[in-house]
Amino acid sequence: MIQERQSGTQVHVPVLPTEVIFYLNISTDGIYLDGTVGLGGHAALILDHLSPKGHFIGTDRDNEALLLCNKRLSGYPTPVSLFHNSYHNFNAILDELGINQVNGLLLDLGVSSLQMDSHVRGFSYSTDSDLDMRFDSSQEIKASGILNHLSENDLANVIFQYGEERRSRAIAKSIVKMRPLTTVFDLVESIRRSTPPNHRDRTLARVFQAIRIKVNGELEKLENFLSTFRDRLVIGGRVAIISFHSLEDRLVKHSFKDLAKEGVLSILTKKPVIATNEEMAENRRSRSAKLRVAERIS
Ligand SMILES: C[S@@+](CC[C@H](N)C(=O)[O-])C[C@H]1O[C@@H](n2cnc3c(N)ncnc32)[C@H](O)[C@@H]1O
Repeated sequence: MIQERQSGTQVHVPVLPTEVIFYLNISTDGIYLDGTVGLGGHAALILDHLSPKGHFIGTDRDNEALLLCNKRLSGYPTPVSLFHNSYHNFNAILDELGINQVNGLLLDLGVSSLQMDSHVRGFSYSTDSDLDMRFDSSQEIKASGILNHLSENDLANVIFQYGEERRSRAIAKSIVKMRPLTTVFDLVESIRRSTPPNHRDRTLARVFQAIRIKVNGELEKLENFLSTFRDRLVIGGRVAIISFHSLEDRLVKHSFKDLAKEGVLSILTKKPVIATNEEMAENRRSRSAKLRVAERIS
């Protein structure tokens, strides 16, 4: 993912920017909630289309990102409310704000450039640091907790299901043998000892992704959101979700399909929208992005 620096401020380049704005079909006086507001890349684009009568709400589990986001969004005339919370708690957040329904919901799942490039948070296999991987640093369980305490069998299942890594059993065995793991490079070494050198980077990426998903309970939170968002969207309002993992995309696809069968949603993206070749060339992260959008119709 590309990062820019503007007046000393870190800026996250959002994926599928034109497509997100096109599909959200923003009402200028509307209320929009970005559940994974991150560094405010998509948020700024949404705010460009909102009047002072509108309202922008953002949530993120990462306090560090929220501080930067707050700074970035402070100049807009539209009211902005940011919450350090998981997007799956958005019902409670809307209740707190006294808002019944919103005109648009956006989720851009996964990791931000801020997190990936951090030298201390353990998201990247190429930088040695504490085995952390928490989106929310107030959460108790870290990657080291998962890696050092899960049974070998459970660990293999996590690596297989969330990482889609077929050498999961050998990797889990190697991790258990090397316990206790304390650093990113300990995990890299346990993977190195149990897998062949060809395509090692891909293996590392898959295992790190799997552990991150487990640490942060990412699929459970998405499932929870998908089962509760419908009543909070106005009729004519839209929900847009960008995923980077086949399991996430499957959850979104099936949830939208079920709600379409019930006559609640109309699916606007029969196939997921993917980035153009130009965007993929400029922004690596966009290569695996899939956007699905639906409109509430009843
Ligand atoms: C890909 S980034 C979003 C970037 C943002 N769209 C932008 O343009 O700046 C994903 C963000 O989702 C956040 N996140 C992940 N799971 C979350 C959750 N359950 N609730 C809220 N935020 C979450 C991460 O902390 C990260 O900041």
